[in-house]
Amino acid sequence: MTRVAMNRRRFLGTAGVAAGGLAVGAGIATALESPTAGADGGDDVVAFYGEHQAGITTASQARLHIAAFDVLDGASREDVRDLLRRWSAAAARMSEGRSLGDGAAAALAPPPDTGEAEDLPASRVTVTIGFGPTLFERDGRDRLGLAAQRPAALRRIEALPGDELDPLRSDGDLCVQACADVPEVAFHAVRNLARIGRGVVVMRWSQLGFGRTAKTVETQQTPRNLMGFRDGTNNITADEHDALDRWVWVGGEAPVWMRGGTYMVTRRIRMLIEVWDRASLADQEATIGRVKSTGAPLGRGAERDKPDLRARDAAGPVIPADAHIRLAAPATNDGVRILRRGYSFTDGFDPELGQLDAGLFFIAFQRDAHKGFAAVQRRLATDALNEYVKHDSSGLFAVPPGAARAGDYVGRALFES
Ligand code: HEM
Repeated sequence: MTRVAMNRRRFLGTAGVAAGGLAVGAGIATALESPTAGADGGDDVVAFYGEHQAGITTASQARLHIAAFDVLDGASREDVRDLLRRWSAAAARMSEGRSLGDGAAAALAPPPDTGEAEDLPASRVTVTIGFGPTLFERDGRDRLGLAAQRPAALRRIEALPGDELDPLRSDGDLCVQACADVPEVAFHAVRNLARIGRGVVVMRWSQLGFGRTAKTVETQQTPRNLMGFRDGTNNITADEHDALDRWVWVGGEAPVWMRGGTYMVTRRIRMLIEVWDRASLADQEATIGRVKSTGAPLGRGAERDKPDLRARDAAGPVIPADAHIRLAAPATNDGVRILRRGYSFTDGFDPELGQLDAGLFFIAFQRDAHKGFAAVQRRLATDALNEYVKHDSSGLFAVPPGAARAGDYVGRALFES
């Protein structure tokens, strides 16, 4: 029943699995950033237990499976608490590359693990659990007795410029983000948590992502998104501890149960790929504000060069006034920074439009999503990129701090307060 990765014991012995804390998490992430680590399913383990949940500053893995769930009418606060306990234990086990269930499976019952990841290594799988505003209050009802504990920042993001949101694939009471270097492992994680949740929660929406569009540790190569541009150059990385404390981790402004947590925003951003593919290279580069081949800011020579937002030539600003990186830059947004951790997606072909249904499943973590993502997105109202994208789903989730050690679970401080 176990599929313990070959070097798992040695690795955990060195890192100390229950030692917890960003230092360990970041250390693991960095250690795994050798050129081959994680590629093609190395036998890698990212600790589930720690000060912060895994899957935020963890070096972004290759694949995503994310899902939101609604709590069924009639389920009690205790049911949800027990579910979080079971989800945490299962996530910890899967993170170690182990199947669910102990001992031999009974022939007359469904196996405790669905089995598709049986022969695969841990693949750096992480499970990140979040709570939506509706977990605390839905239609004015405090179903689970949690309303008094709702942080002020956990309120729905109101309509933003350019929104064309589908309510059926937006929002949700709970969210589970699974990331791994192997697709079956990410899929397996969400599928098995959904299975554990039967009778208490029902899946509301889910999304697969196939290519990371962010780098979250310095040593990681910047990937490219489906527009062909390097994405994640100017991101907050795991080793920027001061920036993480300032812009990502929640502090004393929130109820105790949320301190050390963060807020996750999810946006399914459909790219109008066929329209983009007809734009000239010069237009594409002016839209983003960077050189497509190298990732360098316009007017500069290398990807990591600082964009010069003041530079002008005879035609005007070198980085146009409506370029994406100008409008999204901290300098244009009162210094605001967010940690981006999105994935490319495709859901095949849209027969109605005769176009690929593909784009960027944008995920961002920040200390306050209204001051972070929503403020930046408002600024992007005049973004040249808007001609080529459409936001069709949105979610906001409070991501509590990590479970400290085996037996602990995500959300304990909320549910036992
Ligand atoms: C499909 C939609 C999007 C695409 C294709 C896209 C693409 C890019 C690219 C290529 C870069 C430059 C490289 C980098 O620094 O990462 C970038 C930067 C950035 N993007 Fe986006 N992006 C999209 C949506 C968004 C959204 C919705 C937000 C937030 C509301 C956002 C926030 C940022 C930020 C903060 C930067 C860094 C700017 C800087 O400091 O230079 N992006 N994006």
